[in-house]
Amino acid sequence: MRLVILGGPGAGKGTQAELLHRRLEVSWIATGDILRTAIAAKDADGDSQTELGRQAQNYVERGELVPDEVMIHFIRQRLLRADAASGWVLDGYPRTAFQAEELDFLLEDLHQHLDYAIALEAPESVLTRRSLARGREDDTPEAIQRRIALFLERTTPLLEYYEMRHRLIRINSDQPIDQVQQEILNHLGVG
Ligand code: AP5
Repeated sequence: MRLVILGGPGAGKGTQAELLHRRLEVSWIATGDILRTAIAAKDADGDSQTELGRQAQNYVERGELVPDEVMIHFIRQRLLRADAASGWVLDGYPRTAFQAEELDFLLEDLHQHLDYAIALEAPESVLTRRSLARGREDDTPEAIQRRIALFLERTTPLLEYYEMRHRLIRINSDQPIDQVQQEILNHLGVG
């Protein structure tokens, strides 16, 4: 199965993606975590950061979106890897209309199709509270505010994009983790 998970910061994308990865036995590709790992990959001199880390650091720290060209190139390489052949759940990608369109082109090239886009929906106050409680380096109040603003501005239009393609599943993620997961599985027909 091939799934994308959409949602603001703290919506529960990572939490639900990990559960789906285990349940459906598909690859879990979390762009935020991959970028953080790439940024942190420095030696004592601080000069072994990967190219991806170098390109992303400034953006991730400020809660800005990493440029589309960087992300699209990364996802193309990632989905060509062998472990992606039997299915995946994309956690945090796509985030812009351009990324969504490019993902469709890529899947066309690969003769694959997306099964569903799962939108995790929760009030802004819940997103802020959960994100602040995480306390990662880039979870400053300013960066969280910026991530929420960018989600509303750049990512919510994707709901319509996937709805028009009859691919959208909307889930209320302001409820216990198990319940959110169960609702997703019910929609996927594997509950
Ligand atoms: P990313 O890591 O994707 O950040 P995010 O969208 O802000 O999401 P989070 O990881 O904060 O939250 P989540 O929705 O995964 O929630 P989680 O399950 O962790 O991206 C970071 C940065 O990378 C971006 O700002 C950007 O710079 C860059 N980036 C990434 N992808 C990009 C792209 N495609 N294009 C451009 N730039 C990109 O849960 C959060 C907390 O809530 C946890 O503590 C969890 O235990 C708790 N929780 C979860 N569900 C529930 C529940 N139902 N009830 C109670 N608590 C819950």
